[in-house]
Amino acid sequence: MSLKEIIKVPNPFLKVTAKPVKVIDENILTILDDMMETMYHANGIGLAATQIAIDKRLIVMDCGKKKFETQDKSEKEYNGKIDNEQIESFPIKMINPEIISLGENIEEMEEGCLSIPGYNAKIKRPSSLKVKYIDENKKSKTINADGLLATCIQHEIDHLNGILFIDHLSKLKREIIFKKAIKEYSKN
Ligand code: NI
Repeated sequence: MSLKEIIKVPNPFLKVTAKPVKVIDENILTILDDMMETMYHANGIGLAATQIAIDKRLIVMDCGKKKFETQDKSEKEYNGKIDNEQIESFPIKMINPEIISLGENIEEMEEGCLSIPGYNAKIKRPSSLKVKYIDENKKSKTINADGLLATCIQHEIDHLNGILFIDHLSKLKREIIFKKAIKEYSKN
């Protein structure tokens, strides 16, 4: 396993649409492990392959260990919200994730992103969903998710389609964050 560099805005790779994984081989499993290590190292709860400049449809998440700072819920309470029988524990690795359906209820949640570090915003998204993916054991899975996991899945799959959380904001709000962020990052 090795740590990878997480690319930041305005890196054009963040606009790339990732390609489906055709063969799940050692290379893919290594990328997933590297992504997980990189995510933990950056203290994140989710990471998409495009964020380490790999254009494959791979995401990793661990919503069970760290919560968004603005969320005032215990881990126990949060975990109780996840409605699925197949994920008993985090972390989760998803290959070729595909949202099958989104719930009707819309919720606003504070989001951040390792590719736009230091900037958060409240984003409205469906609060539940059904997602299909292949796991690291090559098993096809379909799960229901809500709460933070549902938000995280949508955020990470967006990355695979070249979409950032700030793209869900108004043009004005998006540009304010974008300009501030790239100005700050260019200093380093
Ligand atoms: Ni992100």
